[in-house]
Amino acid sequence: MARLERASFGSKLGVILATAGSAVGLGNIWRFPYMAGQNGGAVFIIIYIFCVLLLGIPCMISEFIIGRHGQANTARAYRKMAGKSMWSLIGYMGVLTGFLISGYYAVVSGWCLEYVWASMMGKLQGDPAYITSYFATFSQAPVRPIFWTLIILLATYLIIENGVRDGIERASKLMMPTLFILLLIIVVAACMLPNADKGIEFLFKPDFSKINGDVFLGALGQSFYSMSIAMGCICTYASYFSKQTNLTNSAVQIGVIDFIVALLAGLVIFPAAFSVGVSPDSGPSLIFITLPNVFHRAFDFIPLLGYFVSVLFYVLLSMAALTSLMSLHEVSTAFLQEEMVITRKKAALIVTISCMLVGVICSLSLGAWSDHKLFGMIIFDLFDFVTGQLFLPIVGFLTCIFIGWFVPHKIVRDEFTNWGTLRNERLYHGYMFLVRYVCPLCILFIFLRQLGLL
Ligand code: PHE
Repeated sequence: MARLERASFGSKLGVILATAGSAVGLGNIWRFPYMAGQNGGAVFIIIYIFCVLLLGIPCMISEFIIGRHGQANTARAYRKMAGKSMWSLIGYMGVLTGFLISGYYAVVSGWCLEYVWASMMGKLQGDPAYITSYFATFSQAPVRPIFWTLIILLATYLIIENGVRDGIERASKLMMPTLFILLLIIVVAACMLPNADKGIEFLFKPDFSKINGDVFLGALGQSFYSMSIAMGCICTYASYFSKQTNLTNSAVQIGVIDFIVALLAGLVIFPAAFSVGVSPDSGPSLIFITLPNVFHRAFDFIPLLGYFVSVLFYVLLSMAALTSLMSLHEVSTAFLQEEMVITRKKAALIVTISCMLVGVICSLSLGAWSDHKLFGMIIFDLFDFVTGQLFLPIVGFLTCIFIGWFVPHKIVRDEFTNWGTLRNERLYHGYMFLVRYVCPLCILFIFLRQLGLL
């Protein structure tokens, strides 16, 4: 009975757009383009595609299998497969990672909202020094960034409390196509700028001399982060998939959408930056310092064009952040709702308030509390390190070993082939090989390397 009552996505499109909404986020826009441009252009892009195909997609399918089989939150889904063994702990770790990351992801998402507002008010116009100081002053302020963090978490709450179909699915069906269209408009505008070809060349020109071991590791880490792997999100969303959902096709489609958005972001950033002779950076400084400058100067030949491009860009950035934040929020909401047996609204409220607390701490650690350090890092950086560099690889690695070596093959095969109806046996063997050998070894390697042990 309880099984029948469980929420689910209403359509195939809903599955793809909601999960792609989780995947498409700040990582696509502020990290991928820069990494590609700096690390060999087309060669990096090809390496990245291989990472997505050979590692990202198999890992995503593994989480799909656990989530759909479990029909429950991430912790319970792992528990259902693991029984009383220690493997069930991975699920809890996934939930914890999802929760920790949502606090600081909310802070950065809040910054995006501030920039929507600031660009609308025409506040992002001025010389580079002004834009730099605008960001520094804002991000270190005690109240303003917290205000926006609370607003974006409130928006997330209002979506999540409406449930899977009326909340997450509906919002994703609205926001993802809008995001894509806005992105296309800005790409066209950016690629028509003078000297845009230099930017396109920077992004795509193959440069083999830049390729070394670290580039491979960078591409691998980026593909995991970008596809939202090992945070509980994919597993939680998969618990809302139907028995007919083709897991392999869905993972491939989501991987492709995620990749295309990242490439398109590159086709905005580099042409615009090169047209005004600015060298692009990565991370917060790219989006919040370089780009406002660039938009303003690049599009100043038509009155108001720079203004509109800037507003549209921050709107799309905020939507990308919000759909990712929704998936992070849902991990903890589903967990609380099912483990504490409370209503969805109550669970969502507890998660929202907890995320707000984490968000406030993260935000203050950039300014007023920047002297308080743990293990030599401010809290914001500590969260980033613990979730991205420790928990993500650990959960990813253990999930592969668990699915590849411990879960009965019949369960995995049934889920992969939709109980024999898909006739993708050959693909199944390829998937199993990747999950048993290739993925764990690669993740282990990246993990040890990150910790400086290799
Ligand atoms: N995939 C998101 C991005 O590219 C980040 C994210 C990671 C979101 C994990 C949810 C879970 O920005």
